[in-house]
Amino acid sequence: MRNKKLVHFFNGKKLPLEKIKINPYDLGLLRGYGVFDVMCTQNGKPFLFEEHWRRFQNSAKELGIALPMPKNKYQKILLDLLKNSRFEKFGIRTVLTGGTSSNGFDYQPGRETFFILIEKFKALPEKIYTDGARAITLDHNRDFARAKTTNYAAAINAQKKKEEAGALEIIYVKNGKALEASTSNFFIVKNGKLITAKDGILLGITRNLVVKLAKKNNFQVIEREIGEKEIYSADEIFLTATNKDVVPVVMVDGKKIGDGKVGEITREIMKIFSVFAEKY
Ligand code: PDD
Repeated sequence: MRNKKLVHFFNGKKLPLEKIKINPYDLGLLRGYGVFDVMCTQNGKPFLFEEHWRRFQNSAKELGIALPMPKNKYQKILLDLLKNSRFEKFGIRTVLTGGTSSNGFDYQPGRETFFILIEKFKALPEKIYTDGARAITLDHNRDFARAKTTNYAAAINAQKKKEEAGALEIIYVKNGKALEASTSNFFIVKNGKLITAKDGILLGITRNLVVKLAKKNNFQVIEREIGEKEIYSADEIFLTATNKDVVPVVMVDGKKIGDGKVGEITREIMKIFSVFAEKY
């Protein structure tokens, strides 16, 4: 076996999973008061580390939870954890909650719970990229949309509906606007232009990179409100997320997007993205 046992980081210590104990009075657990971030490695390095750290910092700030350590210390710990195991590619979850509360409600600074979990990266099936995925819509918007909070209750609640539709993702719509997906952002392509939401969403690291790379490659990118109905009349749709990169969407709520096949522009964006990632 090439892989040694995975070691994680929990409140100041390196521990195997079975040694990690969470206090039931943790505000993350009792009240959903927590934030996290998901990163993966690329060529052995944490992909877009600076961007993920900045967002993690911002998520914590939005909720008012104090960060337990500066960037350099976090980076050092993370690299050390990765060194312990030899996967081709890792998934990394960094979690921060309000921590243990003596009355089960009040946040008491200095008692935060902070952990880093590392795991083997699980890629989506290749077929999703070649044939395209399905999505469904759901009337929902996330609280503290700019923060990556630990509350995914609406998404988990809708998993059965999603599976019954053979869908990969759930696109949130609210008051006639299409926002983001349950664990991704999305872009629509209309008349050769890329359009993606900018308000009421998590500013995905993958989304931001796709905006940048597309502009650099002379695509017109518009960040604006997207009407719910624009989904169905889009020429193409694709999702972006850390654990998915760029995923074509060919059907939403049982309706074909464009001709129901992976779009040309989506293919180009997928290519541009993978060239960037391979060189990282
Ligand atoms: N999800 N919007 C939401 C609500 C998300 O949870 C995610 C990521 C994104 C895309 O962001 P990024 O490109 O930075 O991954 C948008 C991760 C992958 C997850 O929850 O597992």
